[in-house]
Amino acid sequence: MNSAARNQPPDLRDLLAFYAEAGAYDALVEEPVNRFEENKRPAVEAAPHPHPAKNGERETPTAMPPSSRPSRGERKGEGPAPISRPKAAVPDGAQAALARELAANSSTLDELREHMARFEGCNLKFTAKNTVFADGNPDAAVMLVGEAPGRDEDVEGLPFVGRSGQLLDRMLAAIGLDRNSVYIANVIPWRPPGNRTPTPHETEICRPFIERQIELADPKLLITLGGPSAKLLLNTVDGILRLRGNWRSHVTASGVSIPTMPTLHPAYLLRNPAHKKLAWRDFLEVKARLKQLG
Ligand code: URA
Repeated sequence: MNSAARNQPPDLRDLLAFYAEAGAYDALVEEPVNRFEENKRPAVEAAPHPHPAKNGERETPTAMPPSSRPSRGERKGEGPAPISRPKAAVPDGAQAALARELAANSSTLDELREHMARFEGCNLKFTAKNTVFADGNPDAAVMLVGEAPGRDEDVEGLPFVGRSGQLLDRMLAAIGLDRNSVYIANVIPWRPPGNRTPTPHETEICRPFIERQIELADPKLLITLGGPSAKLLLNTVDGILRLRGNWRSHVTASGVSIPTMPTLHPAYLLRNPAHKKLAWRDFLEVKARLKQLG
């Protein structure tokens, strides 16, 4: 870029396209905020946060004071007060411990859904529109677990409703299944901004929720979709191309071992259609195993 071009203000259309690409669709507040004026705010706005940050914990920058910022739950009508200890947005050990406690204290899927909708210990929730809990039949013999919601899933609040979901539906139909005969969830229930890969810390925060969801749904067979889901639920560092196609076990907190088929993620298959035949073989394995189970 020459210096004349560098000195040009950015084209607004380019800037908006850049934001859209990065996943920033919504303004957090109606009015623009002049960040240069922030240091000049009256003292009352600079009053201490009701839940001060602990030990290097950072707070999410918010345009509204935290006390007046509606919780996601309030905005979505997902339930009453948010659960957070402390009210901080950056994951830390305390948030992970709280997630474990809430998951363990959920004795039904409905309770778990409610706890997750009110939990505010994961950064991802602050940029997501919805908590994407599950779709399908919780009593189904087969449960599928993907990675994290994308844009369509975030908008609709349901897993696998976008392009990869449509491919997934066709894959299920090929072995005689549909959303009434499977239960579908994700490792991460909140869309990462711009569909970025969730950080290991965010994944650890969400781990107790998906593990408890599997335990409560108690499927006969589990299918993991893509590497992150397989690695987390099978407790391995092996890559998906090595793992796929071989039955493994997911062991729940109460020690129940669930036969698990790791397979390729539909989004990967959309990018690499030549590998659909591998996923097809994996789904045939599932079909055969289901037949054995009767
Ligand atoms: N990819 C996923 O892993 N999950 C979804 O729900 C959608 C796309």
